[in-house]
Amino acid sequence: MSEIESVLKETRVFPPPPGFSELARIGSEEEYHDLYRQSIEEPDLFWGRVARELPWIEDFHTVLDWSDKPFARWFLGGKLNASAICLDQHLTNGRADKTAIRWEGEPGDLQTFTYAELHQSVCRFANALKARGVKKGDRVAIYMPMIPELTMAVLACARIGAAHSVVFGGFSAQALRDRIEDGGCTAVITADGGWRRGKVLELKKEVDAGIEGLDDVHTVMVVQRTENEVAWRDGRDVWYHEAIEGVSDECAPEPMDSEDLLFLLYTSGSTGKPKGIVHTTGGYMVGAYLSSRYVFDLREDDVYWCTADVGWITGHSYIVYGPLANGATIVMYEGAPTTPHPGRFWELCEKHGVTVFYTAPTAIRTFMRLGEEHPARHDLSSLRLLGTVGEAINPEAWMWYRRVIGGDRCPIVDTWWQTETGGIMLTPLPGVTPTKPGSATWPFFGVDVAILDENGVEEGPNQGGLLCIRKPWPSMLRGIWGDEQRFKDVYWSDVEGCYFAGDGARRDEDGYFWIMGRVDDVINVSGHRLSTMEVESALVSHEKVCESAVVARPDEITGQAICAFITVGQEVEVDDSLRTELAEHVAKEIGKLARPSEMRFTDALPKTRSGKIMRRLLRDVAAGIESAGDTSTIEDYSVLAKLRGHED
Ligand code: PRX
Repeated sequence: MSEIESVLKETRVFPPPPGFSELARIGSEEEYHDLYRQSIEEPDLFWGRVARELPWIEDFHTVLDWSDKPFARWFLGGKLNASAICLDQHLTNGRADKTAIRWEGEPGDLQTFTYAELHQSVCRFANALKARGVKKGDRVAIYMPMIPELTMAVLACARIGAAHSVVFGGFSAQALRDRIEDGGCTAVITADGGWRRGKVLELKKEVDAGIEGLDDVHTVMVVQRTENEVAWRDGRDVWYHEAIEGVSDECAPEPMDSEDLLFLLYTSGSTGKPKGIVHTTGGYMVGAYLSSRYVFDLREDDVYWCTADVGWITGHSYIVYGPLANGATIVMYEGAPTTPHPGRFWELCEKHGVTVFYTAPTAIRTFMRLGEEHPARHDLSSLRLLGTVGEAINPEAWMWYRRVIGGDRCPIVDTWWQTETGGIMLTPLPGVTPTKPGSATWPFFGVDVAILDENGVEEGPNQGGLLCIRKPWPSMLRGIWGDEQRFKDVYWSDVEGCYFAGDGARRDEDGYFWIMGRVDDVINVSGHRLSTMEVESALVSHEKVCESAVVARPDEITGQAICAFITVGQEVEVDDSLRTELAEHVAKEIGKLARPSEMRFTDALPKTRSGKIMRRLLRDVAAGIESAGDTSTIEDYSVLAKLRGHED
């Protein structure tokens, strides 16, 4: 791949507020650079020291074995238990009575758990699973709403050495079935239902349909949440509240080898079949622990809220394992961000005194569209640090987030990483890094990242290329479940000896990384390569545009043409003069070559349930073909139908 042309220029720089740096866990650039250098040049020393901050059951003898590339093994000889790291250590380090979870349901019901209480609940859950025959090495599917029992289920599996495979509660029965079958799960943990936008999501019903005829699934444990009626199969189905009745609240954590499987998490690739990403115990825990500590600058009195669902990697690493390993107080919320009113998130921040807030750009853009009056109704002065994850954040949204939510006082950490990386890879450190809106800035410790061409040659400043990682890192994926060859092909074959993330990126003259989107989202117009994200960002920087998705469609003359799907504010009139205005705006922001040759205005963009715009579908719509690929994750089919209808 020749270089990707980069055209987005952002010149604003925001140094960390001095008061923030003074108190931060890492407060000077010098300290960051020293630690970073050590993490790359002397990884055994660096990671050996960090890992030993956690309580191991048996110490490791070797930090890293990278002889069987691309299969890395970390902390060899070590034994540990992830649930003991999240819970047991806090019983004796002064945090037993500290709040671990502050949970709020969508209807407004509340529950809190101290570390001691969470420990007891997890032990009981673990014993109940054991009583059903679940044992070390088994795989357990978890398909639940965002209730405390979801976190408990995850930790209970870890406690007894069973790997969890959490499937996001918004997936269909078929998607759940595919994942259960692929992972060979023998038990499922679910709930009767969960609250979402004022309605009950009937999860048990989906499970029943999903496992029909799968005889290997011997147990379905059901948490009662919504009390809707559910079908029941005696012998297989068991109520959680009955299963934990009279059960001991002590359960010794199973000693796990550092490289024993901790969990599978399925993610989509460029082909239809989801990949079961394999994460093991020691390296993952060390990565989640360290990144939570430094990226979110966790302090003893923080109230930390990551708005992701535990069904995604962000929830695994930055709701459950990372924050709890650090003994943090976390907020968990069951429902939709705008239910029952558009200011729900800000109401929760105020009510729970949230200090560190981590969310997705798509949510931020939604709130921008809803208007500033909603956050303005709430006191957000407890916030001290903001984060984003999941996709590139356009500078306009970044600036809005900083001003409206962060009161111009909170640093923003734009964190780039993936299901596969297990933990944050590119990120500012909030007390150190001068941030630039839209850039994920610098590599985290141990991340040897470079922008390369396909021959492995490093690109110069501002030259787009392939985002690659040259050295193994502790929380990296260990493979794709049951498909060694696909693991090698997908991640290790584009650039010799390197992990290729699938993203295009550039590094600017100051060494800042800018993610330019998936390389398959790159557009080639008349020999110019453009990142869809940059065109989108230009469009969204226009005051009338709320959100846009840009895709390529085949064009006889230019090779590819740019097709932009755009949502505008409700009061904006869509006509030819708007089209001209936006084309000129893009020409001004980027250049004439980036002007979309087609603009389609729509009420909403098709998104996955995790909020990612489904560009593959839009490419098909733009090209006028029916999508053949997997649409199982689409949030709202009517959006797609409307877009297609538009073609006629
Ligand atoms: O393209 C990048 C984008 O999301 C991809 C990873 O998606 P997933 O495995 O679902 O994990 C999301 C949560 C970690 C990446 O390859 N991505 C994620 N974070 C960012 C991002 N793109 C730009 N900036 C980010 N901060």
